[in-house]
Amino acid sequence: MVEHPAYPVGLRLTGRRVVVVGGGQVAQRRLPALVAAGADVTLVSPSATPSVEAMADAGEIRWERRRFADGDLADAWYALVATADAEANARISAEAERFRVWCVRSDDATAATAWTPATGRSEGVTVAVLTTDTPDPRRSAAIRDAVVEGLRDGTLVAPQQRTRTPGVALVGGGPGDPDLITVRGRRLLAEADVVIADRLGPRDLLDELPPHVEVIDAAKIPYGRFMAQEAINNALIEHAKAGKAVVRLKGGDPYVFGRGMEELQALAEAGIACTVVPGISSSISVPGAAGIPVTHRGVAHEFTVVSGHVAPDDERSLVDWKSLAQLRGTLVILMGVDKIGAIARALVAHGKNPTTPVALVQEGTTASQRRVDATLGTVGEVVRTEAVKPPAVIVIGDVVTVNPRP
Ligand SMILES: C[S@@+](CC[C@H](N)C(=O)[O-])C[C@H]1O[C@@H](n2cnc3c(N)ncnc32)[C@H](O)[C@@H]1O
Repeated sequence: MVEHPAYPVGLRLTGRRVVVVGGGQVAQRRLPALVAAGADVTLVSPSATPSVEAMADAGEIRWERRRFADGDLADAWYALVATADAEANARISAEAERFRVWCVRSDDATAATAWTPATGRSEGVTVAVLTTDTPDPRRSAAIRDAVVEGLRDGTLVAPQQRTRTPGVALVGGGPGDPDLITVRGRRLLAEADVVIADRLGPRDLLDELPPHVEVIDAAKIPYGRFMAQEAINNALIEHAKAGKAVVRLKGGDPYVFGRGMEELQALAEAGIACTVVPGISSSISVPGAAGIPVTHRGVAHEFTVVSGHVAPDDERSLVDWKSLAQLRGTLVILMGVDKIGAIARALVAHGKNPTTPVALVQEGTTASQRRVDATLGTVGEVVRTEAVKPPAVIVIGDVVTVNPRP
């Protein structure tokens, strides 16, 4: 227990001499932050870890390969003592005291004149945590993690200083599990005044939004004489023009069968700033959640993602099913539940083996996730008998069976 709490301060070290004694793990952990702070770092140590050595090779720090010598701290502003020898550490920190250099000791915090807080950064804020009495690095780090995570994902927002990104953010929300949205997406969601959400994606996150946030179900926007998509575009434009921070929350990634570019173009035409945040697409993550890798060494060297919303013989189809039937790799079909019978028949007619494994993964990454297995020859029937419903990702290829089903 120390008598008084430490006095927290931010050191501005740009161009100032900092001496680090000892080139082991502690130096390896601390050096990047000192370099990032612009300090003129000299490492005094006969040896160093490969990472520390690499920093010296890259010219980020000056490394003097020798033991500490009296006078090394004479011109320093700040010192970090981290040798494996406690007696040497005591001698060096005594020199720091003589020269009035603030000094951190890795072996005995209570004997040191300075402590390193657990630090983290998020969006222009540095969080530094020190415990009040005895230094407790684990506790400091745990609190730092909680605060930084809260700032990053937007769950910790000071209401008076809520930063708002004006305009519209097209946010890819991932496949459905609320943990599978990006940190940026989550933050923008926490800053939004209006959220226009699809049926797919992390709907659970909408419940967490503060009451003043207007949540609009994209499927329920009345569209009158407009197309549904036009009505969504108009709603985005209207709310953004009213000065609101608008998030268009989409399932998966906005640019994978997500009409993200149409919305971006409509906003650009209306002169509204738009930012696009990528998301984890269901095309990869939903098979993965059901234990299916879309590629596997020695099995599939490619995967192709296809929309199955129109049948192969439909004149609107832009998919070359004949060519797809020639590929050895994995075929991932989105929006294909209704047409999978016709798609399977087309692939077999163009030469694909009817025994090729198929898996349908419904509501992937959510509590209702369900996987149904079939083959190209049986899938049309299996979809009916098993009553598979959208949304489902269909995976065709040998990757389906590389992992024995749990
Ligand atoms: C309009 S597309 C949007 C795809 C989305 N942009 C993406 O990157 O995942 C909708 C289709 O994605 C698939 N899908 C999206 N989320 C899914 C989920 N959680 N489980 C199964 N399929 C999903 C289904 O094939 C669904 O019909």
